[in-house]
Amino acid sequence: MRCVTGLLFLLGVLTAAAQDTTPIQASPTAAPSPLKPAPSPLKPATYSQAHVDQPYVAMTFDDGPSAANTPRLLDMLKQRNIKATFFLIGQNVAANPDIVRRILAEGHEIGNHTWTHPQLSKLGDDRVTAEITKTQDAIKQASGFTPTLLRPPYGAITPRQRQWIENQFGLSVILWSVDPLDWKRPGPSVVTQRILSQARPGAIILSHDIHKQTVDAMPATLDGLIAKGYRFATVSQLIAMNKPKLSTGQTANIDRSHNSKTITPTPASSATPASSNAQHPENTAPAKSSTNQPATAPAAQ
Ligand code: NI
Repeated sequence: MRCVTGLLFLLGVLTAAAQDTTPIQASPTAAPSPLKPAPSPLKPATYSQAHVDQPYVAMTFDDGPSAANTPRLLDMLKQRNIKATFFLIGQNVAANPDIVRRILAEGHEIGNHTWTHPQLSKLGDDRVTAEITKTQDAIKQASGFTPTLLRPPYGAITPRQRQWIENQFGLSVILWSVDPLDWKRPGPSVVTQRILSQARPGAIILSHDIHKQTVDAMPATLDGLIAKGYRFATVSQLIAMNKPKLSTGQTANIDRSHNSKTITPTPASSATPASSNAQHPENTAPAKSSTNQPATAPAAQ
């Protein structure tokens, strides 16, 4: 939505790349099974993906609601009985409360994407508090729903802020593992190809429903994922399925602290090149960290 330059802090994380998931083998004919509503969230944590033993992914759509594009996307999702997650900008919530209500009425999840889409890593706690609470209040006022998820614009958030937001606001911080760079408007077929080639079980897939091309890409994207055997979950549902990998000496009864629950993102692929002059939100994959370690960054530098 808005452009900034020099998100250099994301570059370092793009160098590490070792896939920790394998391509799914699910039958293309496997029909998505209905999921139970996500249980009450555990202690808030930070996620870029989940480790799951079934081929679920979470489609996420940022920066809306958009009067021009979100209803059309909702129609596409409804036709396929797919539930997604929408990270809404507070200003757009206030302008489109009817769409907010429709998103929830059709079984999707809503998360907080701040009020004005700033880089939170550059703001003090008072400003961050205002960005978060104003958006929480607007979503609640429009729909009665209070989000439990926050996606920081640009993925820009410091480790301290992450822990503070989890503790202070009870919000899980949701990054992503698949980034089609749809904001660059490469054409619908490229968006589709990038998502299909990068998707893995447990993936959190980033895109933006404010862009017409992105929504234009969704029929082929969604049908392509279905054809590969993928099923769809909201982010909270995906988190509920998460099975953290354990290292030697750890027990299955893991600590629910924000660190031990933090999920490692998938590696950046050739479709998510590092760019020193990247100019858009959510433009690179978030930090790569090794299993059982907290996701490193996105931290401002
Ligand atoms: Ni955004």
